[in-house]
Amino acid sequence: MSIYSSEIILRTIDFVRSKSEGESSGHDWWHIYRVHKLAVYLAKKENADLFIVELAALLHDLDDWKFNESGSQQALEWLNKCNIQEETIIKILSMIEQVSFKGAGESDKTDTLEARVVQDADRLDAMGAIGIARAFAYGGFKNRELFNPDIKPEIHENFEAYKKSCGHTINHFYEKLLLLKDNLHTASAKILAEERHLFMEEFLSQFYKEWDFTGKI
Ligand code: ADP
Ligand code: NI
Repeated sequence: MSIYSSEIILRTIDFVRSKSEGESSGHDWWHIYRVHKLAVYLAKKENADLFIVELAALLHDLDDWKFNESGSQQALEWLNKCNIQEETIIKILSMIEQVSFKGAGESDKTDTLEARVVQDADRLDAMGAIGIARAFAYGGFKNRELFNPDIKPEIHENFEAYKKSCGHTINHFYEKLLLLKDNLHTASAKILAEERHLFMEEFLSQFYKEWDFTGKI
């Protein structure tokens, strides 16, 4: 990496950090920090282009569809400000658009190794202990119940149905989190996912065990 491109990465870190600090719905700065770290690791393991992977990982949640309908506007403005070549900007914006999980019934459309690396990094951070913590933080932010045994999970046929869902947080495990392991792309991410997936399964069995406590003496 040239000095010039590492300078762009450092400036992008400062920019994204200033924009995302204090966010409480699961897209706080520390989510970006972890995804960036995972993406660098995966990019090196998979021999992907590190510069565009780092920029897409850092900018991937700046314009989130749940909070912002206008597309990747802020990411685009920032990349222009950094004087990045138009061709590279188009690649990065396309990676950002491909990264988000859109429901069980929507197939993933990633067209480059770099897009697959960033998507895998983002998904790994939705799994495991951190994924569990993020799901309940999101549920709290949206005033959702932890669990309600009367409301069963749904397999959403498309992105619209997934966006509209408002069930309890345990359902989110069946609607997204437990599906992630089999939808990762890179071999290195699949290895990291094993432990995180098992931990979520253990969490759920302990959760139901405590829920079903009968107190018989
Ligand atoms: P990401 O940043 O991984 O693309 P999202 O933008 O879809 O993820 O969501 C941010 C975080 O909130 C993730 O950890 C995700 O699993 C969680 N989340 C999203 N929707 C729900 C939901 N309906 N219930 C609980 N957690 C959710
Ligand atoms: Ni994300």
